[in-house]
Amino acid sequence: MKRLLFLTGNAGKLAEASHFFEPLGYQVEPFLIDGEVPIVIEPQSDSLKEVAIAKIEQAKALLNLSGQDGSIFVEDAGLFIDDLNGFPGVNSASVLKQIGLSGILNLMSEITHRGAEFRACAVLFTGNELVFGEGVCRGTITGKTLGESGFGYDPIFSPEGEDSGRTFGQMDRMAKEAFSHRAKALESVKKQLDLLGR
Ligand code: IMP
Repeated sequence: MKRLLFLTGNAGKLAEASHFFEPLGYQVEPFLIDGEVPIVIEPQSDSLKEVAIAKIEQAKALLNLSGQDGSIFVEDAGLFIDDLNGFPGVNSASVLKQIGLSGILNLMSEITHRGAEFRACAVLFTGNELVFGEGVCRGTITGKTLGESGFGYDPIFSPEGEDSGRTFGQMDRMAKEAFSHRAKALESVKKQLDLLGR
């Protein structure tokens, strides 16, 4: 088994990545320096990919310094609302903390075009090369919060192709997985690892 060090403080994401990468021969572990998830600097950028690459580069340097080895994995996601010029985008986590779902709904109270998308970008550094995976899930922002499942923006996002108009907040984990940007990003990484014969 190869070691795959995932730079995240999120136990749910770690479990999901374990489940996904183990059949590919990777043992997924949290990326830790002196027993802690290191703080890395996020660059000012609108692009999830640029943010993810910056994190990988910092993690590579930290790993070298610590004398450990292994592959490194980073994954970033966000909600991009069409008529808010992609807001909250790469700042989805901090915006949610600051204004909440009600803040987003207020900002959209006069907006009739409700299109939006979740995007995820996953980057794996194998030790030699960088492998990227991107995933998008199109959908619409509802007029009010619906459901309590999931996390983040789930209660105000209804994915395209969900005929009954349910939000992610009204779905269980398995149902959400069928649409999820994150699942698509991981699938794309897997495809490229297959192509590289890794
Ligand atoms: P992260 O980079 O995956 O941690 O995502 C950043 C932020 O985007 C999260 O804190 C959430 O607010 C939001 N987000 C990302 N993916 C999802 C999702 O699948 N559902 C709801 N919110 C999400």
